[in-house]
Amino acid sequence: MLIAITGANGKLGRLIIHQLLKKVPASQVVACVRDPQSMQEYKEIGVDVRYCDYDQPDSLDQALVGASHLLLISSSHQDDHTRFQQHSRVIEAANKSNVGHFMYTSFAFLEKSSLSLTHLHLATERAILSTGIPHTFFRNALYTDFVAALDLQTAITKGFLRVSPGDWMFNSVSRLDLALGIAAVLSEPDRHQHKSYELTSTHPWTFPELTSALSELTGKPISLQEDPAMQHWIFGFLGKIQTSTISNDLEQLIGHPTASLKESIRPFISTATLP
Ligand SMILES: NC(=O)c1ccc[n+]([C@@H]2O[C@H](COP(=O)([O-])OP(=O)(O)OC[C@H]3O[C@@H](n4cnc5c(N)ncnc54)[C@H](OP(=O)(O)O)[C@@H]3O)[C@@H](O)[C@H]2O)c1
Repeated sequence: MLIAITGANGKLGRLIIHQLLKKVPASQVVACVRDPQSMQEYKEIGVDVRYCDYDQPDSLDQALVGASHLLLISSSHQDDHTRFQQHSRVIEAANKSNVGHFMYTSFAFLEKSSLSLTHLHLATERAILSTGIPHTFFRNALYTDFVAALDLQTAITKGFLRVSPGDWMFNSVSRLDLALGIAAVLSEPDRHQHKSYELTSTHPWTFPELTSALSELTGKPISLQEDPAMQHWIFGFLGKIQTSTISNDLEQLIGHPTASLKESIRPFISTATLP
């Protein structure tokens, strides 16, 4: 088995490789990146680090030589049309290669939302299915990191979190939990062919729960302030997706509950603010 992973030096990619190396020998892992220098430490322990740029079709053919399994980590390009073109090039290269199992990091809640992001992921899933290569789709929930856009530090300083009014409920997970689940699949891929996993938490959360978690972590009372005048892109984005769907797929893959909201937001709070 030779597993090629694109986006390997990204935040999720690094975590996946770190977890995967606890389960399979480094000689079975190919890290596909635009900047091979950035993966020097992995090269030193035996990971095959290959140049791969979604915009350079030749590099994709080269990166997939000998790979039996491929994990395409969705592109981080800002424009969803460009992202789809990039994904299509990877799919074309996989089709020409001997890749026998195509895995892809998609997005959860796809059927319940309608925006260009969800169209991109559905279109990519369909394009992968059309190749006939056995697949596994990881439909990842929102990364809990989105809370960074809510400016928790200011909320802690002022004693209140300002949000746009609404009946908000979110299902988010940490990248680490996603990496644990994806690495579990990558290490025993045959059991997971032709599956689509909704990698969500089993506990969606609300803003009152977020302020409670903030209060518990900091030992300070933090209230919620709904402000109709609040203008922030994050609320525009969140308002277009319905992210409260629950699945236990991730917990089953990792064999334990996903990180709690309190633990997941800890990295977004300055240690100086913690008791
Ligand atoms: N579920 C969510 O809430 C959520 C949130 C944000 C993003 N995402 C998606 O999840 C993906 C992984 O997340 P992440 O946190 O690991 O993102 P990240 O840290 O930004 O990593 C993105 C990876 O994609 C690579 N990449 C970008 N353009 C490329 C190209 N043209 N050719 C080859 N590689 C390219 C980057 O390589 P370089 O280092 O060379 O740029 C990097 O390794 C993102 O790319 C995005 O599609 C999901």
